[in-house]
Amino acid sequence: MPAVTASAPGKIILFGEHAVVYGQPAIAVPVTQVQARCTVVAIPTAPAGRVEIDAPDIGLKSTLEELSPAHPLALPLHLVREQLGIPAFPACRLRITSTIPIASGLGSGAAVSVAVARAVSAFLGHPLSDEQVSGIAFRVDQTHHGTPSGIDNTVITYNQPIYFVRGEPFERLTLHHPFWMVIGNSGIASPTLTVVEEVRQRYQSSPSSIEPILLAIGEIVRQARAILASDSLEPLGALLTENHQRLQELGVSCPELDHLVNAALQNGALGAKLSGGGRGGNMIALVEEGQAARVADALRRAGAVSTLITRVG
Ligand code: PMV
Repeated sequence: MPAVTASAPGKIILFGEHAVVYGQPAIAVPVTQVQARCTVVAIPTAPAGRVEIDAPDIGLKSTLEELSPAHPLALPLHLVREQLGIPAFPACRLRITSTIPIASGLGSGAAVSVAVARAVSAFLGHPLSDEQVSGIAFRVDQTHHGTPSGIDNTVITYNQPIYFVRGEPFERLTLHHPFWMVIGNSGIASPTLTVVEEVRQRYQSSPSSIEPILLAIGEIVRQARAILASDSLEPLGALLTENHQRLQELGVSCPELDHLVNAALQNGALGAKLSGGGRGGNMIALVEEGQAARVADALRRAGAVSTLITRVG
């Protein structure tokens, strides 16, 4: 069996996080500069069923058997085996690496699941379809993130901009114009599960104060979709900033993210917002190509631990 490698990109949510959990649309795009990668090689000398996993980025070296079945690196393997209906794996070694920052809203978990599911199924000679791979990444996310909307696994599996409504077939977005974003990492690790749960509690205790915010975010996303398909990207920046304000009202921002958003706006960004679960993780800023380096510098001066400049579309 020849060695097989598969990789999957990171992602950012451009518009609509949190509201997407409640049925509103959201727009997400892949970020291809950062990738999760999985390589599978056979170990001809080892007994059948022995699967070694080496994930140096998180200091993990183990066998599949030693990991709990729900472990984020073990679960995609069990789900592939289940999906293909095979009783055991041939002896093999997986090397899993990723340049996607963990717990920062760039989809590292879903990207690792996608890379593992693709590499292992191809290694076994039965590459899974995109739909199956996305389904596996979704089930892993469900185990670790409670009630994910499904946007992460979808944008990462299909590796293209998407307009996503929970429970509906997603729409591939064709962007009329490419544009540039700067991503600033606050350096604060923030589990999405906790923030989503807090929003749920607020929603349950006071639906009449939360519902209008969710509806307003949905409206922003619909306007953004129309702009992305149009000739002029001009109004997109204002929509990003408006989306950030709605997320502040929802209670999912934090002083550090607000500070980064302001720093981007004061240094030439056309618009900026937090991206993903919030309370930490990343923020994003829409920039003219020539302004990207200036905004990235300003973000680092304002406390971002790292920045990424990415071309979308
Ligand atoms: O933190 P991330 O990038 O995984 O994004 C979470 C997005 C939410 O809308 C907050 C949750 C979800 O499952 O869609």
